[in-house]
Amino acid sequence: MKNKNIFFIGFMASGKSTLARALAVELDRVFLDSDSLIEAKFDKSITEIFAEFGEDFFRKEEQKIANFFCGIKNASIATGGGFIQVSNLNEIGICVYLRAEFETLKNRLDLKEKEKRPLFYDEKKAKTLYNERLKIYEKKANLILDIENKNIQELIYELKKRIE
Ligand code: S3P
Repeated sequence: MKNKNIFFIGFMASGKSTLARALAVELDRVFLDSDSLIEAKFDKSITEIFAEFGEDFFRKEEQKIANFFCGIKNASIATGGGFIQVSNLNEIGICVYLRAEFETLKNRLDLKEKEKRPLFYDEKKAKTLYNERLKIYEKKANLILDIENKNIQELIYELKKRIE
């Protein structure tokens, strides 16, 4: 348990990167973010990668990142909302699902943040995707954190208690 990666899954805007970063500082771990690693590789934003190469291409890159995550230890990792499609998710480490209602997540995204997420452009489609993924997130998680009305400090406190 001690050296295992801790990684966050959940829908867009659930705060995976923010929490993974805060946990990395709290536990003195390396912080990694699947989306940022893919953006860095191509020196392009997620929106550009989706537009230029397509979603399938992006999903294949996510699988390569997952393979890499399986070979490391002791990191605090944020993943993209669709990262749960990788084949070896259960080999990465402790999987934490950040759960919230769709309405809450939608209200957290201003226009600028929405523009960074090609799968959130169309709110109706995003809601359908949310409903499709809900049970998958729950099934794949080792631990579920309900994030509604909680700040980062409260979430870190709860998480630390549950992973010790
Ligand atoms: C996606 C979520 C995004 C990003 C990409 C696809 C998804 O990450 O990986 O736009 O399929 O839900 P965030 O969850 O960090 O927004």
